[in-house]
Amino acid sequence: MSDSIIGAGPKRIDGQRKVTGEAPYAADHHPDNMAYGYGVFSTIASGTITGLDLEAARQSPGVIDIFHHNHFPELHRTPSSMAQGNKVEETRLPFEDNRVHYEGQFVALVVADTFDNARAAARKVGVSYQRDDAIANLDQGVKAHGTKPGSGNHERGDAEGNFDGAAHSIDVTYTTPVETHNPMEMHASVASWEGDRLSIFESSQGVVQQRGALSKIFGIPPSHIRVESPFIGSGFGSKLWMWPHAVAASVAARETGRPVQLVVPRPQMFTTTGHRPETRQRMRLATDDNGRLVSLRHESINTTSFTDQYVETCGSVTQSLYSCPNLTVSHETTRVNRGTPTSMRAPGAAPGLFALESAIDEMALAAGVDPLEFRLNNYADRDESQDLDFSSNHIREATEKAAEKFGWHDRNPEVGSMRDGHEIVGYGMAACNWEAIKRECEARVSLRADGTAYVTCATQDIGTGTYTIIAQTVSDITGLGLEKITVRLGDTSYPNGPISGGSWTTATTLPAVAAATREAIKELKGYATSEKGDFADVDNDSDSLVFENGQLTHDGQGVNYVDVLKGQKLASADGHAHTQGADDRYSYRSFGAHFVEVRWDPGISNLRVSRVVSAIDVGRVINSLTARNQVEGAIVMGLGMAHFEATDYDARNGRPVNNNYAEYVVPVHADQPPEVDVILLDYPDLEFNEFGARGIGEIGITGMAAAVANAVYHATGKRIRDLPIFKEKLMENIPAVQSA
Ligand code: MOS
Repeated sequence: MSDSIIGAGPKRIDGQRKVTGEAPYAADHHPDNMAYGYGVFSTIASGTITGLDLEAARQSPGVIDIFHHNHFPELHRTPSSMAQGNKVEETRLPFEDNRVHYEGQFVALVVADTFDNARAAARKVGVSYQRDDAIANLDQGVKAHGTKPGSGNHERGDAEGNFDGAAHSIDVTYTTPVETHNPMEMHASVASWEGDRLSIFESSQGVVQQRGALSKIFGIPPSHIRVESPFIGSGFGSKLWMWPHAVAASVAARETGRPVQLVVPRPQMFTTTGHRPETRQRMRLATDDNGRLVSLRHESINTTSFTDQYVETCGSVTQSLYSCPNLTVSHETTRVNRGTPTSMRAPGAAPGLFALESAIDEMALAAGVDPLEFRLNNYADRDESQDLDFSSNHIREATEKAAEKFGWHDRNPEVGSMRDGHEIVGYGMAACNWEAIKRECEARVSLRADGTAYVTCATQDIGTGTYTIIAQTVSDITGLGLEKITVRLGDTSYPNGPISGGSWTTATTLPAVAAATREAIKELKGYATSEKGDFADVDNDSDSLVFENGQLTHDGQGVNYVDVLKGQKLASADGHAHTQGADDRYSYRSFGAHFVEVRWDPGISNLRVSRVVSAIDVGRVINSLTARNQVEGAIVMGLGMAHFEATDYDARNGRPVNNNYAEYVVPVHADQPPEVDVILLDYPDLEFNEFGARGIGEIGITGMAAAVANAVYHATGKRIRDLPIFKEKLMENIPAVQSA
């Protein structure tokens, strides 16, 4: 591997297409004769549809058909298995029956000749309901029907027995609200049929899984379905799995005999395409006299829907980040009248580390130890939950480097003691952590006689830079410039690739692309050493026959690969590879630490994050530009989680009340801290894959909200245990320290 291109920071190779509007997104596709669907959505959260008044809608201009539970073909549910490649999060099909499980559920679909006509007609559909009492939130769910055990639990030692009587202990509960992903590009499907073959453009993080799910639902072979998602306007997890609109669009296209486009309106992106669920997490920690953890319990409950059980594995990090012989992690769910939750950037770990890393701060204070020292004293040196060594773990170095750069050692630990004019300055820190995952993957690479390379894989680039790092990989091995390498992704007609999620795309796809490139070179060598070849006398697997910088070289004699192909009138040398997932020799994880400075002005109740220093150990960095971009983006998303983001539901009826960009607040440029300093440690994890890359998309958000909450405590003396940290929460019962 040369040093040049792997680890460099070339700009996104798809960047120009994106900024010039040339890159097609799902709803940019307009096949001939396309019709438009527009949904009618439930206005109650729980109950039964008792009647549909369709007359006015039917007479509305341009209407072609109206689908609903009495006018929808019989389909099959998908078994929803990721291993089988047909997972969805909401297994109930649209229009399956007249039950309403959440507000904003599809109750009808109008198809018309134009978007405007479809929308106008949809608004004329009358729906009558028999309304049941809605379970509107986690508390109501637990009260009404308790909880159900979830997955991902862990137990070692005797956490309960070592809690009472410990030198120091805390017993605290944290809560996090529903968050909605809010990618800029709305969910959209453009479906067309030709006979019994379905073709669908989708804004998707997982075309192969969607093909598998549609295959099960329609009872047709996967080979008859093509799902395409070459570009998406992000997803953050909401587009990992297919949602009901894609089934509705596919049915509408089949039944009307026309391609149908269906875009999910923004308000329903808060209801029918997943969300991060609400959590309640009880943390019980205890230490000995020396501030060493002796007992740790993390018990989490999250909301799920009435149709499916989604488990937010809040304790996934807790079981391995700190050394503790007595530890329990448990997950439970409770059903509420909301759509089915789904993964949102760092599922489990994002809300889980808000609780864990806030609790560690509280525990350190209770034990009288500096929070930085406390962590350094308690970090695990091996994964005690799996009894495995970490493949590579530089969390101590990350923590110390970031602390140094941040200036943690200048912190006066006394609450409210650090002042700058009107402002009280607070310093907080938290660890961050994410599992490194690598899955099975296929890829194809062609070295073509026109001097270019062509790569295909049915994974996606969700805006993270996947196109670019795949091109870098081929460039690294072949010596071809990035401009000579065409990468095609997001199409099920390409070799099977992974979902773009879990931060596993890089570690999964690069080994497959590299192997396919080597296969193509091998084929080229076969041509070169054949009877008619330039190296007819050389053995085709001879070590002295080398491919370098676009040349096949033997004994000082070099031939450009283009000439090898042209000499035999061949179009290309092709390689296909199928690589496997990670082994279980080690615990593969990424590590890091965030340091946050907040400024609180009690006079005008202004709170802002003024500085962030984060050091992250994600293995080898493939592209320094896009990697930094991922971490910075995740940090800002973490600030959104800390300060702003919460989908509110009316406790009386389960209605989402801020289901729009005006009232669901995400960070904007003005909220960006003046200083965000990201240190990437760049230690290759060669146990994990040949590139040593572990993936980088999610770890940056983990721990951020806790680092902010810990800084807010240091500034204000207020321990905010329920996100988000609205300023109003700091204004209640302002303690004496702030009125100085
Ligand atoms: Mo990520 S939540 O796996 O897109």
